[in-house]
Amino acid sequence: MIVRELACEHLKNPIGVDAVAPRLSWQLEDDKRNQSQTAYRLLVASSQAALDRNEGDLWDTGKVESDQSTLIEYAGRKLCSRQYCCWKVKTWDNTGTESEWSEAASWEMGLLQPDDWKAQWITADNADEPIVQPAPFFRKQLALAKPIRSARSYSCGLGYHELYINGSKIGDHVLDPAFTRFDRRVLYVTHDVTAMLQQGENILGVILGNGIFNQDLQCAWDFNKAPWRDNPRVILQIHITYADGSEETVLTGPDWKVTTGPIVFDATRSGEHYDARKELPGWNSTGYDDSAWTQAQPAQAPKGVMQSQMLPPIKVTRTLKPVAVNEAQPGVFVFDMGRNFTGWPRLKVSGPAGTEIVLKYAEKIDSKGGIDQSEIASFVKGREFQTDRFTLKGAGEETWEPRFTYHGFRWIEVRGFPGKPTLESIEGRVVHTSFESRGTFRCSNELINKIQECTLWSYVTNFHGYPTDCPQREKNGWTGDAHCVVEAGLYNFNAENAYEKWMLDFKHEQRDTGAVPCIIPTGGWGYEWGSGLCWDSAYLVIPWAIYLYRGDKRVLEQNYEGMKRYVDFVTREKEDRRGLVDFGLGDWVPPFGDASDYTAPVRYSASGFYYQDAVILANTAKLLGKPDDSEKYTKLAEKIKKAINNLYYDKIAGLYAGGTQTALGAALCQDFVEPSQRRKVARQLVAEIKQAKWRINAGLIGIKHIMLALNAIDRNDVAFRIATQTTFPSWGWWIEQGATTLWENWDGTSSRNHIMMGSISTWFYEALAGIRPAPDQPGFKHVVIRPSFIKDLDWVEAEHQTNHGPVRVSWQRGQGKLTLI
Ligand code: BGC
Repeated sequence: MIVRELACEHLKNPIGVDAVAPRLSWQLEDDKRNQSQTAYRLLVASSQAALDRNEGDLWDTGKVESDQSTLIEYAGRKLCSRQYCCWKVKTWDNTGTESEWSEAASWEMGLLQPDDWKAQWITADNADEPIVQPAPFFRKQLALAKPIRSARSYSCGLGYHELYINGSKIGDHVLDPAFTRFDRRVLYVTHDVTAMLQQGENILGVILGNGIFNQDLQCAWDFNKAPWRDNPRVILQIHITYADGSEETVLTGPDWKVTTGPIVFDATRSGEHYDARKELPGWNSTGYDDSAWTQAQPAQAPKGVMQSQMLPPIKVTRTLKPVAVNEAQPGVFVFDMGRNFTGWPRLKVSGPAGTEIVLKYAEKIDSKGGIDQSEIASFVKGREFQTDRFTLKGAGEETWEPRFTYHGFRWIEVRGFPGKPTLESIEGRVVHTSFESRGTFRCSNELINKIQECTLWSYVTNFHGYPTDCPQREKNGWTGDAHCVVEAGLYNFNAENAYEKWMLDFKHEQRDTGAVPCIIPTGGWGYEWGSGLCWDSAYLVIPWAIYLYRGDKRVLEQNYEGMKRYVDFVTREKEDRRGLVDFGLGDWVPPFGDASDYTAPVRYSASGFYYQDAVILANTAKLLGKPDDSEKYTKLAEKIKKAINNLYYDKIAGLYAGGTQTALGAALCQDFVEPSQRRKVARQLVAEIKQAKWRINAGLIGIKHIMLALNAIDRNDVAFRIATQTTFPSWGWWIEQGATTLWENWDGTSSRNHIMMGSISTWFYEALAGIRPAPDQPGFKHVVIRPSFIKDLDWVEAEHQTNHGPVRVSWQRGQGKLTLI
């Protein structure tokens, strides 16, 4: 048996780990069938030399009889801040044969204690009231006397920060750090900067953007009034270990110098204005005269505690070329980037100094080929929206891309361009949380492949440190949109750490009453408005999915009290005399009208989630060894189930809530149908879909339940007909209209990049490829393989990288036989 893919906290050789007991995982590989691990021995050492001598001076587990190979909690000597740990593991198989030691892996701890932070927060402006001003540039000269062995930077700059050493940017992150509720916690970022520093003179530089931390735009969600809103500020600490073993720490403080430069305006939702005439050539290198700069001012620390950013950072993940450029009106050029995405342009231009180019971004064009921003801009007041401005310095070819904003778009309108732009004048920089792929799905039906591709694009471009509803209009963490696609996210990407981060955002946003807002993080908006159970249940559905699909129960442990408080809040404040709940939204944006009520009453949909939440809580309590709670919530679940069936089930007809697709799908998927009635209800669901000419008649909640219910009742033939429709309403109709991402509404009237209908990707994996985690062996410790061999499909190929290794399913028809590998 070969032991490989060692991971700490789901990551390869991470640095800046701040989990007190980091969790260690590995995968096993063997050519022979029926192999399994029966024991392991883990060594964790404080140096590679000790590990090479097989000395686990931090932790030597000895031989542990266990089949566990994922997420083993470190339980060795107490780890201190910045501790380096290297580790390896060997295993024994079911014949008792001992493996070789794995290759070594490592992790490094971050700054664990508040008083590890010796640096001071600094700012350009300590004004009482936050205002949006040109981006500050900070600079510090530094002489290092000796050769350097290693160096780490720990930094947090709010809203966004970029760090420089000797003229080069540190790392490839953009828009760091991720958005959190800043008065509860702020995330710091760790970089290995060993190779960037040198003996002798060094220059450190920082640029700060406003981000959502300092948004002055008046929008529907009141971020401009957020209690944590403040002027940009930064803290940076570089720990240097010299070759001779001595150490030095470099800190931000009032000895840093500050000025403003070319970024004259920046705002996440509005855009960035850059005046190249104001550039500061060489500002972050040696030999620059900073005598005109002023001293930085000490700033108040944000109220939140410092935590390490353990989710994948936002990055530029690829660069797109435009497919066309048209002159929509004289001097107004519209670039078609060929697809919808998130990010910004890279502009190349030559022209006279002072020429201003205005770039606007949109998902739609009008009949004359001009851009159409009307729908997305309607939520904001007082400022331009999705608009960048670039002013030339007039020095030959100039290349520019924004730093502190991002847009959702396919088309770019360019005004003021000197001369005529060409396809070489603009590139598209794709920007989002840089997930790694965890799955691929392809089949013989090209339409399905296209839907899968649109889903992948919508998923990643709706993740910028937290999951968003849409990247162009709102950029809000609407909770309902996210939980509908959590499984799709986990099949396709390494999204677990990002969700774990987001679940802590829930914890920080939850009120003492137990209520949670409908967008998370928020600046305070969204509690009163309340989307209700169909949205809030993200707080239970997502941790449970992470447990089921990754075998990770820490997210349940971390959020258990909050999950419970939420359900108790519903029981206490929202339950009616029947034991049901009726608040917030139900199934949202179905095809024929945008209110929730025609597909199922809100009380029905909300109560279905109330039931599902109680079941999750009962199971979680059992898992965490809390029998009293488990009993309490099992009883609650039974009570809700009974109440739903009493009010909504027509036993004679086999129908729930009038028998809509949404209602029947929920009953089967959320599983509140009495077992004796399941077949009858299943028949009715199929009949209802037939009646609708094999088309979906549901919104984001309904479609997930319907497709997964059809899988559960073994009617994937019906689900396949729905999935491959090309007339309205269907995913196929979107594709026929030219969609390259998923849309918000079936009729395409609103956003052209919403992820919430992306739950269909879960159905591709679970029904067509038939890959699923065994419910009693979470995290794919045992895998269920049960593909549906759909008549109209010739082949399916899918792979999912589980925590235990890859699962591959490939089936095909040919020469009168069906082959499954
Ligand atoms: C968002 C949705 C969200 C909904 C709920 C919309 O504005 O874009 O995706 O879930 O509001 O009200």
